[in-house]
Amino acid sequence: MFIQVILLSLVSSFAVANVKKFVTVDAQIYSQVEKSQKSLLTKDGITLVQLTEEEITQLSDKIHHELKRCGGFVAHDSEAEARAVFENKSARLWGSKGVLNQYQIDQQSTVNPALKLVQETNIRETIKKMSSYHNRYYKAETGKESQSFLKDKWAALIKNRSDASVEYFQHSSWGQPSIILTITGSELPNEIVVLGGHADSIGGMFGGSGAKAPGADDNASGIATITETIRVLMEIGFQPKRTLKFMAYAAEEAGLLGSKEIAAQFKAQGKNVVGKMQLDMTNFKGSASLDIALMSDYTNRAQNEFVGKIIDEYVKVPWGYSKCGYGCSDHASWHNNGYPASMPFEATMQEMNKDIHTANDVIEKSNGNADHAFKFAQMATAFMIELAN
Ligand code: BES
Ligand code: ZN
Repeated sequence: MFIQVILLSLVSSFAVANVKKFVTVDAQIYSQVEKSQKSLLTKDGITLVQLTEEEITQLSDKIHHELKRCGGFVAHDSEAEARAVFENKSARLWGSKGVLNQYQIDQQSTVNPALKLVQETNIRETIKKMSSYHNRYYKAETGKESQSFLKDKWAALIKNRSDASVEYFQHSSWGQPSIILTITGSELPNEIVVLGGHADSIGGMFGGSGAKAPGADDNASGIATITETIRVLMEIGFQPKRTLKFMAYAAEEAGLLGSKEIAAQFKAQGKNVVGKMQLDMTNFKGSASLDIALMSDYTNRAQNEFVGKIIDEYVKVPWGYSKCGYGCSDHASWHNNGYPASMPFEATMQEMNKDIHTANDVIEKSNGNADHAFKFAQMATAFMIELAN
């Protein structure tokens, strides 16, 4: 009896090991797949093949050790799921699994000169201006005024570009609009890369419209970082192949409300967001051990690894992982709608800025400068240029 059980389990594990899975691979990975594996279907640079578990493991090793990259293939749970990748909205499946074929760092000749143009003083000035409003609360008049200022500032940055526009995204249930700036891609306009952060602020749990909430770190810092990224891309006359979108969300502090509406609308319209980076709190250096903490929850692992490589290649500062433990910012809205998101944060969760959501969230708490956010602006600029191509 005992022998029989062992035999049976041996036979069944052998059977499992030989079951072929449906796997979609990008062009570079397909070139590594054994030539004996016939392609079942190829479209838009993606190929469907069937591989055993063992072959998948070998392929994964090869990708890491020989190609020195991550992702590039998805093992699907069923043939139907695999074939769905080739249908219209299906690029999202690839996106959500974070295995687009562009996780390569090869834009050094564009990125390196761009990074020299990033200026700490610009970031500092935007933080000061945004934190000068009594608050940027989503239901307060000042929360609309600050968005009007920001929209004008972004519009001025793109004034010479016919391929760029900036618009309000109005929300029906409250007054503060979100802002979306778009640079339309020249070759892959339907593939979208998003850099966003929330523009609203809040003064305490029951703060409301009256409470003072400068929100210098949370999140004038993220908005200022995004603004400097846009400015630098414009200064170098950057023309992306994919479409780039920059977003300043309303009403994050009230429960991710603005980004939730935007991400849900993108999903409903079948929009193909291939990468989303969230910048929420970039200017308080809380951790001695690292400069940038990548939040590991509500984010995409393959894309996070790519962001880590971007930091190593271009920013050259120590980074690591941390965790919010809940959907703490707008990246969660994108993640929850199936899009690959990352959230590089200013410190570990344990060492975060304790003054947020109070009248003391002012730039003086960061020594009156934007030295820390500067690193995030470099990282975001590199991320956008690399993913744009
Ligand atoms: N910037 C914070 C999120 C945050 C705080 C991230 C500390 C990491 C460390 C964000 O604006 C915020 O306050 N979020 C809320 C949750 C949201 C769903 C209302 C929060 O953390 O309480
Ligand atoms: Zn915040």
